[in-house]
Amino acid sequence: DYGVRAKALAATTTSMEDLRDKERVVLGLLALADRERELVLKHFHEKTLASRNVSLHLAMAGRISDLTRVEGRAGYNRAARRPLTFGTQYKTAQWLHRWLKLKGPLAAVIADRFGFLLVNRIISDELVGFNQRRILPIVGERVGGILNDTLCQRRDETGRALDALRLQYPEYADAQDTLFLRRTGIRLEETAYSEAHRNGLIGTELHNDLTGELTRTRFQINQRPQLDLGLNTTDMLDRHVLFESMDTPQKQALSKLLRPRFATPGEHLIRKGEKGDTAFFISSGAVDVRTDRDSFRLGRGDMFGEMSLMTGHPRSADVVALGYCQLLSLSHADYARFINAAPDMKAHMESLSAQRQSINATTPEDPSTGQPSSRNDKDKS
Ligand code: CMP
Repeated sequence: DYGVRAKALAATTTSMEDLRDKERVVLGLLALADRERELVLKHFHEKTLASRNVSLHLAMAGRISDLTRVEGRAGYNRAARRPLTFGTQYKTAQWLHRWLKLKGPLAAVIADRFGFLLVNRIISDELVGFNQRRILPIVGERVGGILNDTLCQRRDETGRALDALRLQYPEYADAQDTLFLRRTGIRLEETAYSEAHRNGLIGTELHNDLTGELTRTRFQINQRPQLDLGLNTTDMLDRHVLFESMDTPQKQALSKLLRPRFATPGEHLIRKGEKGDTAFFISSGAVDVRTDRDSFRLGRGDMFGEMSLMTGHPRSADVVALGYCQLLSLSHADYARFINAAPDMKAHMESLSAQRQSINATTPEDPSTGQPSSRNDKDKS
C-alpha cells in the first residue's frame, strides 16, 4: 500500500518541479531532523536512552533543524558535528584535573561523551534507513542520494569519534555496549509480558511481579559504569618503557615530579615558536610532530617537548594528539630534581634532543609535492 501511495505522491510532486534540488534537500533534511526528534523520544520511551541524556539529544535535533533552515546542508553538517568537538565543559574538566588534580569531572565528561556518541551513532544509522525507505521514494534518486551522503558522512564521523574512544578504553566501551543491549533486552521482555497479560496468558498478579522485577533490574543498570581514565602517575610510570628498569624508590621519587595529563584527538599540546618549559612522556596514544619541513609520529614510550627544556629555545614544532593520550609531564622547575632521581635520563634526553635537532636541520622537502614528508620517528632512531 505504501508503495502505491508513494508512487502517486511522486507523480504529484511534479508540481514541485520548480522547487530547485537545493530546496528539496533542505526540506528533506528538515524532515530528517523531525524524525530524529521522534527517534530520541522513542528511545526514551523504550528506556534505551537514560533520561538524563534525552535533553542533550533533543537539543541537538533542535539545533540541526534551526541551522538547516538558515544555512541549508552546510548548517545541518555544522550542527551535527558540534557535539563531536570538545567544548567548554571538557575544557573546564581538563583544567580542574590539571591544576587541582580532580579526576572525577574529567572522567564524567568522557563517560558522557561515550554514552552520547553511542546513541548518536544508532540514531544516525536509523536515519539512513528512514531516508531510504520513506524520503527517497518521494524526493527521487538525486535528492535522496544527497541526503543519504549527508547522513552517511554524519554516521561515519560519529563512528570514528566512537572508535577513537574505544581504542583507548576498550573495557569501558564493552561495558557501555552491554548496557545498551541489556536495556533493549528489558524493553523486549516488558513488551512480551504486557502482551501475555493482554491475551490472558498470565494473570495480573504475576504480570505485576514480573514487571516489578524488571523495574528493579532497570534501576540497577541505569547507574552509569565508572570510567577509569588510567591517569594514576605510579601506574603510568610502571607502564612506560623509559622507566622500566628503575626500582620502586626511584619511581616513587619520580612520581612526585611527574604529572598525569590527558589529551583528546586533535588537541594541540605544543605550538611551534612558543616558549616551552615542559616535556612529555607518552604512556599511551600517539602524537604527530609537525616541523616546517616534515612530520613525525611518536607513540607509547616516546617523549617530546624536551628540546626547549634542554636548549631554552622556542618550541621547534607543533605537536598534536592523534587519539586519546595518557601523558606524563615534567616541568622545567622540576627538571634538576628529575635528573637527580634518574641520572640516566639526562644523557638520554640530551642525545634525543641533539639527534632531533640534526634531523630537523637536514630533512629535505619532498620534491614531488614541495610538502613535508611524513615519517615515523622509530625509523630513524
Ligand atoms: P620542543 O622543541 O620543545 O617542542 C616540539 C617538540 O617536537 C620538540 O621539543 C621535540 O620533542 C619534538 N620534535 C622536534 N623535532 C623532532 C623530530 N625531528 N623528531 C621527533 N620529534 C621531534
